[in-house]
Amino acid sequence: MLEVRGLNAFYGASQVLFGLDLSLGEGRVLTLVGRNGAGRSTVARALVGRVTRHGSVRFMDRELVHERAFRIARAGIGYVPENREVFGQLDVEENLRLGQRAPLQGATTAWDLDRCYDLFPRLRERRQAPAGALSGGEQQMLVLCRALMGNPRLLIVDEPTEGLSPQMVERVAETLSRLKREGLAMLLIEQKLDIALDLADDVLVIGHGEVRFHGSVPQLRAQPDVIDTWVGMA
Ligand SMILES: Nc1ncnc2c1ncn2[C@@H]1O[C@H](COP(=O)(O)OP(=O)(O)OP(=O)(O)O)[C@@H](O)[C@H]1O
Ligand SMILES: [Mg+2]
Repeated sequence: MLEVRGLNAFYGASQVLFGLDLSLGEGRVLTLVGRNGAGRSTVARALVGRVTRHGSVRFMDRELVHERAFRIARAGIGYVPENREVFGQLDVEENLRLGQRAPLQGATTAWDLDRCYDLFPRLRERRQAPAGALSGGEQQMLVLCRALMGNPRLLIVDEPTEGLSPQMVERVAETLSRLKREGLAMLLIEQKLDIALDLADDVLVIGHGEVRFHGSVPQLRAQPDVIDTWVGMA
């Protein structure tokens, strides 16, 4: 589904990703881990066209590396950035509608408001509330649902559990697991190693902008030195 080769990414003159390769199959979950500043968010931004990059990003047999962000979204890649960007003055339902996009051909199930509210009943209760008035956990539910409303084939989620209460962390992890069971392919950036490895089919470890490991969860567990050096105890 997604095949990335030799991806380099830059902020101005400063290069942050160096020749990254990765691949992700239909319905699979790849989790991306690494230390703070390793370049994890930049991988997400490079894939969705929000940062200068070269190399090859093939998605469903289309080359996307030269495409603008809106075309990448249209091709079926959903993106939930870190730090929960909601439109604070708009209510929950207005935020959700902004993410709405008709499903691409061949999609089996479409996302709509009701399906989002079934996934997170709390959002139904808060549908008229300004998004800026929600708790961090509620905002995370909102941005996740807003991305789902775009009916993506691949969802990229950057640190969805950061700064949430243990109870909310659990709730978000359960939801991601449910989306996985429903067959949604995901690239998940997750700092909490237990959650990252629990959800993953495959793991990509990034260190100083380079791939340090790409393989299955059992393969990673068999190399504790990789975790010690490039992931830490996060
Ligand atoms: N807008 C930017 N301009 C210049 N440098 C940036 C910018 N954003 C990130 N960087 C730098 O690029 C490197 C990778 O940043 P990135 O945001 O990808 O890290 P990360 O692995 O997601 O870590 P964290 O989420 O903990 O910050 C860091 O050295 C960071 O300082
Ligand atoms: Mg980050």
